Amino acid sequence: MSERSHILVIDDEKNYLLVLQTLLEDAGYAVTAVNDPETALAFLEESEVDVVVTDMKMPKITGQGVLQRVKKSWPHIQVLIMTAFGSIESAVEVMKFGAFDYITKPFSNDELLLSVRNAAELARAHRQYRILQAAMEDRYGVHKIVGRSRAIHDVLSMVDRAAPSRATVLITGESGTGKELVARAIHYTSPRKDKPFVSVDCMALNPGVLESELFGHEKGSFTGAVAMRRGRFEQADGGTLFLDEVGELTLDLQVKLLRVLQERRFERVGGTVPLEVDIRIVAATNKDLTGLVKLGQFRDDLFYRLNVVHIPMPPLRERREDVPVLVTHFVEKAATENNMPPKSFTPEALNYLTGYEWPGNIRQLENVVESCLVLGSGAAIGVDDLPPDIRDEEAQFKSAVDLLPVELDLADTLEKIEAALIRRALARAKLKQVDAAKYLGISKSLLQYKLGKYGITGH
Ligand SMILES: Nc1ncnc2c1ncn2[C@@H]1O[C@H](COP(=O)(O)OP(=O)(O)OP(=O)(O)O)[C@@H](O)[C@H]1O
Ligand SMILES: [Mg+2]
Repeated sequence: MSERSHILVIDDEKNYLLVLQTLLEDAGYAVTAVNDPETALAFLEESEVDVVVTDMKMPKITGQGVLQRVKKSWPHIQVLIMTAFGSIESAVEVMKFGAFDYITKPFSNDELLLSVRNAAELARAHRQYRILQAAMEDRYGVHKIVGRSRAIHDVLSMVDRAAPSRATVLITGESGTGKELVARAIHYTSPRKDKPFVSVDCMALNPGVLESELFGHEKGSFTGAVAMRRGRFEQADGGTLFLDEVGELTLDLQVKLLRVLQERRFERVGGTVPLEVDIRIVAATNKDLTGLVKLGQFRDDLFYRLNVVHIPMPPLRERREDVPVLVTHFVEKAATENNMPPKSFTPEALNYLTGYEWPGNIRQLENVVESCLVLGSGAAIGVDDLPPDIRDEEAQFKSAVDLLPVELDLADTLEKIEAALIRRALARAKLKQVDAAKYLGISKSLLQYKLGKYGITGH
């Protein structure tokens, strides 16, 4: 926040007002001077003010009235009251109502400036806090982890348990399963939440650049290093460093990273002074790190350092019960972002979404939901509005089969599936056997035989 503090001065004596304005402007403040309290209050509605300096005795609204209104609507604004000499009692009174300070007229310039400076500093701290708070709520609101499956509950409880400590966390899982979301959730529920969350994508940068990106460099340490630069480790001091796609690190950088994790100190590229930082590391990968360790492509000592708390992200197809809540969540999100009313999916369309494989996991679901919302023409989103590969019957079968355990009794399972399909057809046909038989593509007599075989009644 580089701008100057903004001071609003209120005094019904115009000459006095002018003197105050000049004095405060000369001291480097942005000043608005108003000789009528009502106008001043209206001005506050429209502007960002840090400190109000107001006279006590004014017609219509007194200084105390101004104070009360300000404290009610803008508690972060600091109010300084000027009282005439001799009215100490009312001065004490205004302090009770939350004035920052009072000064008795006549006062010296230094006296006023000192008081204004203190008030401005406090207001500034309040303002910074409010900005941070808003940014955090924003982030955390956007980064809400949605889901009702057992698997996502397990993830959330791991996040809760891991957040308070400084333990290194390794998040693994397929692409689009929410690894970064979980990393942010850990940071924003941890005691480090007011400090930076700094993210490094180990895949996006080439090894040479990555080193100076992580550790920074000293001026002149290599061609192009025209000025000293702080690396991500320094930027994240006090906060969380998120190493995304950590499986992509070269062996050389793995050694360097291991050293920092062990010693919590490092040097900038081309530098000799060791720097100490207080950071928490959260790493993520969609690679099988244990596999890479066996192949000699990932150092086992680094793996153990990173894998202190391990949070595996389950693929979406293993927690299909989350699909409907995620759909609702993404409809709302996309509707807000695209400034359009939300729509719902028909139960049939939702069935297809729930049954689909989702190789791109939640990111893919989010994209599908957004495109359906934007492109769909009807009041609700139906099966026809879905992308073709999601309507694919093969995929439907595959995902239905995925729900079953690998070890099973084939004949018994097939019978159970048959019975379930017959029950569903009957229910959809409102128990009319002719219609149910039609749905299933069999004769009514065959249906009746099967109803008897499975002991299905209700007709
Ligand atoms: N449980 C969830 N609730 C709400 N949104 C989610 C959830 N999981 C993931 N998302 C959203 O899905 C998208 C993909 O998530 P994220 O980027 O965290 O995945 P990732 O595992 O880091 O993917 P990649 O491996 O491709 O980098 C993001 O927009 C994220 O907000
Ligand atoms: Mg990611």
